[in-house]
Amino acid sequence: MAQAFLIRGGKPLKGEIKLAGSKNAATKIMVASLLTSEKVILENFPRIGDTEITAELCKNVGSRIRIKNHRLEIQTPKIINFRVKQLSQRNRIPILALGPLLSRKGKAEVPVLGGDKIGHRPIDFHIEALKKMGAKITVKNSVYRAETKGLKGASIYLPYPSVGATENTILAAVLAKGKSKISGAAIEPEIIDLIKFLQKMGAIIELGVDRKIYIEGVKKLGGAVHRIIPDRNEAVSFAVMALATKGKILIKGAVQGHLINFLNAVRRLGGDFKIVPKGIEFFRKNNNPFNPLMIETDTHPGFMTDWQQPFCILLTQSQGQSVIHETVYEDRFGYVQDLNRMGARIKVLTGCLGKEICRFIKKGYNHSCQIEGPTPLFGSQIVIPDIRAGIAHIIAALTAKGESLITGIEHIDRGYENLETRLKKLGASIKRVDI
Ligand code: EPU
Repeated sequence: MAQAFLIRGGKPLKGEIKLAGSKNAATKIMVASLLTSEKVILENFPRIGDTEITAELCKNVGSRIRIKNHRLEIQTPKIINFRVKQLSQRNRIPILALGPLLSRKGKAEVPVLGGDKIGHRPIDFHIEALKKMGAKITVKNSVYRAETKGLKGASIYLPYPSVGATENTILAAVLAKGKSKISGAAIEPEIIDLIKFLQKMGAIIELGVDRKIYIEGVKKLGGAVHRIIPDRNEAVSFAVMALATKGKILIKGAVQGHLINFLNAVRRLGGDFKIVPKGIEFFRKNNNPFNPLMIETDTHPGFMTDWQQPFCILLTQSQGQSVIHETVYEDRFGYVQDLNRMGARIKVLTGCLGKEICRFIKKGYNHSCQIEGPTPLFGSQIVIPDIRAGIAHIIAALTAKGESLITGIEHIDRGYENLETRLKKLGASIKRVDI
């Protein structure tokens, strides 16, 4: 039976909330654990749909897994199966298993990827990198088949700092023969967390200047104990909830260094925050409309693409015209139609409305938007298309007058742990219902 959230908006959210471990670090580190036959222990492990899917993937290839509260024990004494099942098609993690499976078994099969519908999401950089390292890869019947007589270090240039392609190359290079260099690498905090974990396992990975990463292949990697970094996307979601509902939330575990450009945007908007030893507290200085802003998404350390959807709710409450220019994904404004039905005035455009021209110029993609505010929001019925759009809808519903019924919440469950229980503690009127 499908489930939905029933939300009655308009209540200021107040109190404290603790961040879960990062989805986009935990899932990659679980895959990295396949590189060793020894035991790996992950603390601050998030209990979300995406880690469940990744656990299924790991079990499928031979991992033994024990999970207690927020602690995961995973050990893969042997790769018993190099074919990752189609069930793992529900997210984009399987492609990252290529490196570990090739290193330990010389063969790998992974399904063509699923994940959020936010653009074409090609994986050409991943495939090119692995081919350069000595893998033969073919695709047939929605399955990638890869084989190698032994991965070799290589010099890899990424035309765009892709998070997944950087991770994939690192995971393949750590046990490859010889040295690898990645130019144009992504350097998101989740990637640094993966590198820290691999270093604990015995890998040699050096961070260079100008998006360069150097990897010296080693013969063997061992077990490790690692604490997953807090989820910065959860942090942004809860921060926006505090500001949008005129509440005050202390986000325990929020890391200032992961959120610098978000915090700047909050300050320019006219919201406020206080950095305290436990985390970061978000609140409004007064109840006046916010200032209009120009937001441009970018790779780290820029304003993250996953933050623009929740932030857009704040911009609907700004006095005047705001702009968002999405430069990472070409199709990430699908959610604004629903916001417009709730009372927002947002226009999506194909031009580059930011300071910079981006690689989507003249391609006809709706990758910029203009937001006129302030506009009151009203409850509505919404179907969630993807995780970050979904959290924006939930924030809009928490802010809106009246009741909203939000379906498609399996997207939310993939990335937010026990969302409704945690929001209820902040005073939200939110109920999970069967439909
Ligand atoms: N790209 C290519 N070719 C490739 C790989 C990427 O052209 O081979 C392009 C993509 O089409 C996109 C851009 O490069 O336009 C960036 O994509 P990237 O590879 O960096 O994204 P990803 O690894 O698939 C991760 C996160 C996303 C997050 C992005 C950007 C995970 C599982 N996903 O995706 O998170 O938005 O990096 O930071 O880590 C989410 O958590 O909701 C989410 C979508």
